[in-house]
Amino acid sequence: MKTWFRPAISLFVFIGITVWTAGLILSFPARLAAQLSSGVPASQTAGSAPAAADASYKVVVTILQQKCFACHSSTAKMGGFVMASYQTLMKGGAHGPEILPGNSAKSRLVLMVEGTTQPRMPFNGNPLAPAEIAVIKGWIDAGAKGPSAGEAAALQPHLNIPDIKPRFAEVSPAGSVAFSRDGKTLAVGGYQQVRLLDARTGKVLKSLNGAAGLVRSVAFSPDGKWLAAGGGLCQQWGEIQVWDTQVGKLLRTMRGHKDCIYSVAFSPNGKLLASGSYDKMVKLWDPATGKDLRTLSDHIDAVFAVAFSPDGKWLASGSQDNSVKIWDVATGKRLYTLGDPVDGITCIAFSPSGKQIAAAGYDKLIYIWNLAQTGGTLVQSLIADEDSILQIAWSPDGKEIVTSSADGSIRIRDALTLDPIGIIPHQSDWVDAMSLSPNGKWLAAGRFDGTLSIYRMGSFDQALGPLLAFQGNAPAGNTEPGRTARALGH
Ligand code: HEC
Repeated sequence: MKTWFRPAISLFVFIGITVWTAGLILSFPARLAAQLSSGVPASQTAGSAPAAADASYKVVVTILQQKCFACHSSTAKMGGFVMASYQTLMKGGAHGPEILPGNSAKSRLVLMVEGTTQPRMPFNGNPLAPAEIAVIKGWIDAGAKGPSAGEAAALQPHLNIPDIKPRFAEVSPAGSVAFSRDGKTLAVGGYQQVRLLDARTGKVLKSLNGAAGLVRSVAFSPDGKWLAAGGGLCQQWGEIQVWDTQVGKLLRTMRGHKDCIYSVAFSPNGKLLASGSYDKMVKLWDPATGKDLRTLSDHIDAVFAVAFSPDGKWLASGSQDNSVKIWDVATGKRLYTLGDPVDGITCIAFSPSGKQIAAAGYDKLIYIWNLAQTGGTLVQSLIADEDSILQIAWSPDGKEIVTSSADGSIRIRDALTLDPIGIIPHQSDWVDAMSLSPNGKWLAAGRFDGTLSIYRMGSFDQALGPLLAFQGNAPAGNTEPGRTARALGH
């Protein structure tokens, strides 16, 4: 168990048991249900009828939803392992595939629920019943077959997740950060709110409340007058709120996408807003009216990052489908795909000149391509970290590339050679939110445990923080005041 994970876990425990309520939509054959309660391993019968493997998948999903989904959903992603669909379940997590079809004895998921491999799953919870483990093993040994086409939709876990408010105050993660264009203000997106902080003192200037879920991306308009906050309710819809930053007033709320939004970006002239969502789509919006202008739909998996080229002509999108796509903004046409990465892309950044783009993600590499109108050429790739790369930024002078990684570090590299220039190690949790000030002097890092620091570029020492970005402000729905002080981590 990595220690920097611990604070993150408490955040999700409150979702834990409550997520699964009565009203199960799934039904499964009585025979398998009986096996589940009687403890007869499914493998004893699974081979006899071909349909049994499919049927036992439903039972397995039911168990996973009840016992694991709180921490392994597309939002929680503990260990990088998402159980939201058969595809992600089979894909596995930070250590690769967790399920080896036909070989339950070597499957990491089984070893972890049995406690042979630590930490035992469910993490900090009651171990699974022997009958439940037997069903999972039986399904794996029978080939770990997925749902039939017709069943796939019905097995999406989100159908069964009611909108449950947290029962006690928790410190919100710092889900996103962005410096204003003048560098004086820092916007921090958290659970159901955005805070505007004085970037020098950390003083809260404004609290912009009312987002639906975690604000995963914030972006200032080029003139600094507006702030776009992207998020939404995962597996339901995406949301963008546009705020007037001067008076702290909500101007409009745009809902679209079928899943939450991971990234928003203003075009350089401020006339367009782009969003990338877990629903695989990229959208272009009119931030002045809220109109949904265009949907760009060629990615085959979640889109985690969008960015406009500095001249505003291109939009780039980075996706879990191991690619970066370059789109023509005027026509909405995909110009080309940069398909070199071997795993999902979590973050992208254009060079200030607009001639190159950098991307990184789960394969721990930084990729840099030269861009032309008709195609891109890979000019650099380097294994840059010991774990997934979470965020990337290109310094305004073009000379440096900064990445944050799930290994708990922030690294600064020469943009030409990718040679290391500096490292800010020992982050207390994942730095899932990062922003460089427009003058290139300051680096803001927001962490999953809710803390925030501002570092000086050059010396890489901490100029501000760590401070709790959302201290003293419980998420809406707090009905258990006794837990507040503990939950805030003091
Ligand atoms: C309360 C949160 C929580 C619950 C519930 C939970 N997990 Fe986990 N899981 C974690 C954390 C945290 C990690 C990362 C552990 C580490 O790397 O130290 C993890 C990692 C894993 C991994 C390894 C991922 C990888 O490749 O590193 C597997 C497999 C796994 N969990 C399976 C399960 C199963 C199966 C269940 C349900 C029976 C479950 N988990 C329930 C928190 C949870």
